[in-house]
Amino acid sequence: MRVISVVGGRPNLIKLAAVCDLISRKFDHLILHTGQHYDLLLSEKFFKELKIPKPHKNLGVGSGMHAAQTSRILVGCEKYFLKNKPNLIIVYGDMNSTLGAALAAVKLHIPVAHVEAGTRCFDKNVPEEINRIIIDHIADILLAPTKNAMNILKKENLVHKAILTGDITYDIFLKVIGKIDEKYIKEVSLKKNQYYFATIHRSENTDNKNRLTRILNEIGKLDLPTVLPLHPRTKKSLKTFRLNLREDKVKIIEPTSYVQSLSLQNFSCAILTDSSGIQREAYFLKKPCITFRDSTEWPETISTGWNILFFTQQKSLPVVIKDFKVPKYHPKFFGNGQATAKIAQAIEGYLKQTK
Ligand code: UD1
Repeated sequence: MRVISVVGGRPNLIKLAAVCDLISRKFDHLILHTGQHYDLLLSEKFFKELKIPKPHKNLGVGSGMHAAQTSRILVGCEKYFLKNKPNLIIVYGDMNSTLGAALAAVKLHIPVAHVEAGTRCFDKNVPEEINRIIIDHIADILLAPTKNAMNILKKENLVHKAILTGDITYDIFLKVIGKIDEKYIKEVSLKKNQYYFATIHRSENTDNKNRLTRILNEIGKLDLPTVLPLHPRTKKSLKTFRLNLREDKVKIIEPTSYVQSLSLQNFSCAILTDSSGIQREAYFLKKPCITFRDSTEWPETISTGWNILFFTQQKSLPVVIKDFKVPKYHPKFFGNGQATAKIAQAIEGYLKQTK
């Protein structure tokens, strides 16, 4: 049986890294990269470090407005699927590549398995929210990371095709946890527990001058330095809006590898982010997390007190951090590291049943 995994960039690659070995042992597994991310620092580092086999094909779709980018993904995927005749495709997360691949496949009557189904932040200003809703409605197997995601799928009448697997980002986290190393903080001349780790890349923040200015001003008020791996989108916005960072407060570095990112998070005193993946990694590492968003797909991290949505607070960032009480309660919302096995089993079961 032939299965194609479609990936478009960083967040997809971490998920592919978790399942790749097992899926490749069970099926004739092809990897299609759409080329949505093309900067070596955003993609290549991950392939090397996480030992993901090179993609069989890269569509080279690149950047662009949503419609332009998604349409190139659709056309490229359709051609590739027609040529390679998969029995099923796997899509990961909520990137435009995930949506384009899923849509191309269902129109060709190729079954689609969606890893990370059922997550919602209930805000359609977030482009990924639109992707998630559409993908879950058209896909054939919904692989849900949490009970909350399953409940959402139930409310949307999609639970009949859903399976609770746990979160594969927790599986990969457990695989690499031993590689977390203090050498990464020394490399950037920082000291253990004496800095903050920040990432900003979501369009809601980077494409809005007021919001980006506010985030950077708040970071500038902090008592300790902040290390900020700079996403190319954010780099562009800083230039476009002519925003300067306080060099004495913010240490800009290139986008990190996965292990480097986990290490920098692990030895920081708190994590400041707008990333979906990093909110979860902060939770896995039991680190205080302040999220520069109005909503999140991971409400468990908020209700347990491990994560605070900055824009819902009426306080400055230093006060939010000062008032942060590290909770004692840390339930295993994201499964037990067996999501990969459950995903492979679900796909195998589906293919047997439809043979
Ligand atoms: C995409 C995903 C987002 C994910 C993020 C991880 C969508 C809608 N969003 O956002 O969910 O968290 O990837 O990075 O798919 N750029 C480069 N080099 C690259 C890629 C992008 O310079 O290799 C710059 C370009 O200016 C581009 C901009 O970043 O226009 C946005 O890239 P895009 O792929 O559209 O979205 P991301 O912000 O990366």
